[in-house]
Amino acid sequence: MERKVAIIGAGISGLLACKYTLSKGFTPVVFESRSSIGGVWRKTLETTKLQTPKPFYQFSDFPWPSSVKEEFPNQFQLFDYLQSYARHFDLLRHIKFNSKVVSIEYEGASDEEMQAWELWGGNGEAFSSKGKWNLTVTDTQILSTEVYQVDFVILCIGRFTDVPNIPEFPPGKGPEAFHGKVIHSMEYSAMDFASAAEFIEGKRTAVVGFQKHALDISMECSAANGEQNPCRLLYKTEHWNVPDYQPWGVPLAYLYFSRFSELLVHKPGEGFFLSLLATILSPVRWGFSKWVESHIKKKLSLEKFGMVPKHSFLKEISACLISTVPEGFYDRVEKGSIILKKAPKFSFCEQGIVVDGETTPIETDLVILATGFKGEKKLKDIFVSPAFQDCILGSPTASVPFYRECINPRIPQLAVIGFSESISNLYTSEMRCRWLAELLDSTFKLPSIKEMEKDAARWDKYMKQSSGEYYRRSCIGALHIWYNDQLCKDMGWNPKRKKGFFAELFEPYVPSDYCPS
Ligand SMILES: Cc1cc2nc3c(=O)[nH]c(=O)nc-3n(C[C@H](O)[C@H](O)[C@H](O)COP(=O)(O)OP(=O)(O)OC[C@H]3O[C@@H](n4cnc5c(N)ncnc54)[C@H](O)[C@@H]3O)c2cc1C
Ligand SMILES: NC(=O)c1ccc[n+]([C@@H]2O[C@H](COP(=O)([O-])OP(=O)(O)OC[C@H]3O[C@@H](n4cnc5c(N)ncnc54)[C@H](OP(=O)(O)O)[C@@H]3O)[C@@H](O)[C@H]2O)c1
Repeated sequence: MERKVAIIGAGISGLLACKYTLSKGFTPVVFESRSSIGGVWRKTLETTKLQTPKPFYQFSDFPWPSSVKEEFPNQFQLFDYLQSYARHFDLLRHIKFNSKVVSIEYEGASDEEMQAWELWGGNGEAFSSKGKWNLTVTDTQILSTEVYQVDFVILCIGRFTDVPNIPEFPPGKGPEAFHGKVIHSMEYSAMDFASAAEFIEGKRTAVVGFQKHALDISMECSAANGEQNPCRLLYKTEHWNVPDYQPWGVPLAYLYFSRFSELLVHKPGEGFFLSLLATILSPVRWGFSKWVESHIKKKLSLEKFGMVPKHSFLKEISACLISTVPEGFYDRVEKGSIILKKAPKFSFCEQGIVVDGETTPIETDLVILATGFKGEKKLKDIFVSPAFQDCILGSPTASVPFYRECINPRIPQLAVIGFSESISNLYTSEMRCRWLAELLDSTFKLPSIKEMEKDAARWDKYMKQSSGEYYRRSCIGALHIWYNDQLCKDMGWNPKRKKGFFAELFEPYVPSDYCPS
């Protein structure tokens, strides 16, 4: 009997899940709430381009076309690349567009039975004979609703869309007190380019945040309004945002994405020897971090602008917080068309924003909150069962408890791709989809629920040590090879993909190292 697999979302993760489940003989159905593929790349800010170097953000068996010469392709080139991928592997016919999955509900074992399981789904396998998922799907055009029953669900709903993170304010001190307009970066990104330009033109604008959306939006505002009408950028934390990927001429990838660089870091589940080595080599780890920090400080004159972060670059990269600084950003700060303002806490008044500890408001017409997204809420809300809603995210004081960063040990017949992050999310999603396809194909079984929870706890410990307060980002970026090795071992592949000892130790790993043979 054919097992039915549903994939929710047709962004990069959903396309990959579709491609690899097809390769194992399944016929997945992909539900996509929008009218096209691409996810975050379907529509974004005018100035957005890839910020991961292209060789790291490419499908292992489908390289970028030679016509794309740029190291950091723009959003249109990226979108075209995704379209070609979908066409090449004939994925589009499996996608139901304008189909929003409003909820998913498990039917089979009771909560009590599931509590008693020692193995995932009762048998440690992807499928069970009696468990099914019911997906309630709304056609967003005609607003009709249909229920689909499937044997396995792959959630690829993304983390950085749909549910904005809006800061909370005491009553009377939030946006409602302000006479101007407040929007989230998500709304600004959704505008067509001409409307976005018109929207900000001539307005005194404040942008909140200091990651990629905030940097890019402040550049667009400063370009539109110049020094006469500067853009205020209100930030909470200084970050090691990077001007390039070649600190002092050394490719960053050699410092952070090679086996040698991973020897410098304590790893979840490492043995005595690796732990000792990471301790002995900790001065080298410190040296690498200082090397990059000194380059960024010098190149962007961070001291002059009072923007030197208090944490290390290692923490920045381990927490997947790397954003590239738009070219000319600090020139604009120097000239005064962008004004940086530290504002760990703020509230609204009639005229604009009041930073905590100050009395004079920053007078503005428009506030754009580039304060990120609540991907966790989106993930939780798709479940009908309160028990699953509770356990999908785990304890709020731990990282999200996913085995191999995609399986919740207590939720059967379901995987999540694209939640836990890395520095190249395409590469990571592809590795996970290949692993998942092997699991669906019964190449291996999962260990006991207890074992999986122990493993998730080891990664939680690593994430807390390496990412500090950002541990909920669930970033594997600085340990990608270690992580891939585990997936490879599960799948029965040789994890060592390079030719020769020195290449294996010092060369950065890229997606093409895992090209299907
Ligand atoms: C502007 C921007 C630029 C980025 N640049 C980089 C970069 O340079 N490098 C990098 O590594 N990462 C980058 N990222 C991170 C990015 O999120 C990933 O690289 C990757 O594109 C995520 O793909 P995804 O498929 O997991 O999620 P998404 O792209 O978010 O796709 C999720 C899809 O699921 C659909 N969906 C959601 N809910 C439902 C539902 N209930 N029913 C049906 N469909 C649903 C959505 O419509 C969407 O199409 C960027 C993110 C943003 C926002
Ligand atoms: N390729 C590209 O060019 C591109 C473009 C846009 C986005 N992206 C990616 O998309 C993802 C989302 O980016 P994002 O910039 O929207 O979100 P983000 O990376 O989550 O950053 C959110 C920012 O908002 C700040 N913030 C959060 N809550 C706040 C509060 N209550 N008050 C003040 N500041 C607050 C954070 O400050 P703290 O750091 O202090 O917590 C941080 O600076 C990231 O992975 C990013 O790399 C990529």
